[in-house]
Amino acid sequence: MDTTAPFFWGSATASYQCEGAWQEGGKAESMWDRYLHENDLENGDVASDHYHRYREDIETMAKGGQNAYRFSLSWPRIIKNREGEVNEEGIAFYNSLIDTCHEFGVEPFVTIYHWDLPQYWEDEGGWLNEETAHAFEHYARVCFDRFGDRVRYWATFNEPKWFVMSGYLIGNYPPALQDPEKCAHAAFNVMYASALGVKAFRAGGYEGSIGIVHSFGPVDGVDDTLETKIAMRFADNYANNWILDTAATGELPIDLLTDLNRRFDLSYITPDKLQALREGTVDFLGLNYYSRVLVRPYTDGETQLVVNNSGSAFKGSQRVVIKGWFEQVLDDPNMQTTEWGTEIYPDGLRRGLIEVTRRYHLPIYITENGIGVAEDVSQGEVQDDYRIAFMKDHIAAIKAAQEAGADVRGYFVWSTFDLYSWKNGCRKRYGLVAVDFENGYTRTPKKSYRWYRDFIAGEQTGK
Ligand code: NOJ
Repeated sequence: MDTTAPFFWGSATASYQCEGAWQEGGKAESMWDRYLHENDLENGDVASDHYHRYREDIETMAKGGQNAYRFSLSWPRIIKNREGEVNEEGIAFYNSLIDTCHEFGVEPFVTIYHWDLPQYWEDEGGWLNEETAHAFEHYARVCFDRFGDRVRYWATFNEPKWFVMSGYLIGNYPPALQDPEKCAHAAFNVMYASALGVKAFRAGGYEGSIGIVHSFGPVDGVDDTLETKIAMRFADNYANNWILDTAATGELPIDLLTDLNRRFDLSYITPDKLQALREGTVDFLGLNYYSRVLVRPYTDGETQLVVNNSGSAFKGSQRVVIKGWFEQVLDDPNMQTTEWGTEIYPDGLRRGLIEVTRRYHLPIYITENGIGVAEDVSQGEVQDDYRIAFMKDHIAAIKAAQEAGADVRGYFVWSTFDLYSWKNGCRKRYGLVAVDFENGYTRTPKKSYRWYRDFIAGEQTGK
């Protein structure tokens, strides 16, 4: 790892959520294109139109003092078909995006997979088919070969937990299944694919480092009883350990495996794959932090593994209950929450960073942090003091964790400009810059854009 690199103050996006141009430049269809079109849901066909405006957007980041941009590559933009043929137009687009980053002094942090699986692989079973893992390895190798001369920071996957749980257990993301056994299988194949990607990176002798990005939910319990402690361990396995333990140490949590093995046929977990996990451990951890996971034991007496979650995007409707395991507390009236019901809890980040450091001793990047709000962007500069407070408090938590020994090397706001927010469409805005999705996609900085710029300048001059 490059120990001379500066601390990175940046922001993050994902290909499907910002690029648009869903049928341009030779791009193939993604599973999200198909799912949203078929179900007549708000889609990212145009999103923030970043495909056509990336230059302006990267310039805005640089003028805002940012020295890093985390974005993802679209697999269906780069690989045309199951045969693995490369789409040169897609390569040209990302070459230009990466070159533009460097032109403005912005370090590219590249995520290889942020959920937009090519539909041609979904048609073959997607993450339930281990061939997809091998196809991912091929795709990752193409990315390293074509962009590795200018990219030093790679992440294999963004948030395996989120897309696997939502796609195979909760059913509110494609492929919209509610099947615990398939969920466990997809989860394993994704971690296997990630390890194959890391192994390919090492075998190719590329410069730089490679990690994985996890939606980090440090676990707290409602009290200090033995039952709660056990529920917390189940919750930690579900929320963190199956990704962090596997990626950082090469070993799946054994108590999780024991439990799953009692319920399901895990014969696809073979010695050669376990060996690949051991050989494919990461150089760093990317943590996306939005909130903690507060749990109590699930007391209903049932032992079936199910999640009860309406999948709707609105406040109060999200509820994670894994019967026989734990129940996530989301209904405490004392919680300070966003309007989407996400608890605002910066101290979870401080304590979580200290715990992750104790467990894994790896460099950490906060690869996402931000607050989603339904904002009226038609009345001039949005006065988003709540966003400024959110960032200030979370950055303070990071600094406190650093003082306690956490090796945090970067902070990425989600996001510089407003994006398409999956099932929440364009209503849930995270940007420091407003995008007028109704009128020509014009960009207007919010108050928080200036705040982040001035904050970074202060950091760099030591003020
Ligand atoms: C996590 C994901 O990486 C991203 O795709 C999502 O939009 C944000 N967090 C906000 O929820």
